[in-house]
Amino acid sequence: MKVWTIANQKGGVGKTTTAVTLGGLLSLWGFRTLLVDIDPHGSLTSYFRYDPDAIEESAYSLFQAAAGKTTIDPATLLYKTGTEGLELLPASVALATLERQAGRMDGMGLVLKRAFESLAGRFDYVMIDCPPMLGVLMVNALAACERLIIPVQTEFLALKGLERMLHTLDMVLKARSLPLPYTIVPTMFDRRTRASVDSLRVLRDTYGEHIWNGVIPVDTRFREASKVGLPPPVADPRGRGVEAYSSLLELLMSEPRPMPASGVAR
Ligand SMILES: Nc1ncnc2c1ncn2[C@@H]1O[C@H](COP(=O)(O)OP(=O)(O)OP(=O)(O)O)[C@@H](O)[C@H]1O
Ligand SMILES: [Mg+2]
Repeated sequence: MKVWTIANQKGGVGKTTTAVTLGGLLSLWGFRTLLVDIDPHGSLTSYFRYDPDAIEESAYSLFQAAAGKTTIDPATLLYKTGTEGLELLPASVALATLERQAGRMDGMGLVLKRAFESLAGRFDYVMIDCPPMLGVLMVNALAACERLIIPVQTEFLALKGLERMLHTLDMVLKARSLPLPYTIVPTMFDRRTRASVDSLRVLRDTYGEHIWNGVIPVDTRFREASKVGLPPPVADPRGRGVEAYSSLLELLMSEPRPMPASGVAR
């Protein structure tokens, strides 16, 4: 079972869209896939028409059990998405309370890692959608995954956010025994705008080998797919955006040990 994390401390860069699109593609390609929502806002959970304000069992239950030193079978927390082979471990708003509580408790950084160990035979891929902030949830995701995907919107404000994210990664990697390869994915690219073209050039010049050599274009079909609650590849398999994510996924799957990163490129 391969676990990938999708994270960036900047909001609105396409993290949830990346998670639901890669997850949708993986399931269409025949891989048993789990989407994990650890954002207290629960965008991915709402995507599939579950209510993060009302949901009873969620990723929060794992942390609650760990805090109470009890155990819970993560398989009892999984929900259907309506797409075959694609399941959801949802978020609930209660996740927001963890940042205050869990920071003071030992052993709360490996809650997700342990949960995935017990789900190992059940899925081929796990995609974790992170909240746009550093905290115990993102630390859990980074400790549990073997690959990190960092979506970055192609605009200048996003470049600063990326620097911050890589700084965070640097700190977290120091606490990890294994290296964590990461891939920066330029999103919402619009070749007609100067901001997109120029910021992409800066990204490529600055992050060299860590940046995917394709781009995810601006595509209104992502928003339309979210309106009907279907993963974009299911709603519109031949959309431009979906095709771009397919080439990204092919590349990521073809690299068993993608980049020999044990630190962060500057
Ligand atoms: N390539 C794209 N083209 C057009 N719209 C997009 C694209 N990617 C994402 N969007 C839209 O942009 C908005 C933000 O995307 P998304 O929710 O994936 O970002 P996020 O990084 O998860 O945000 P947050 O930090 O709030 O969790 C959504 O309305 C989504 O439909
Ligand atoms: Mg999101």
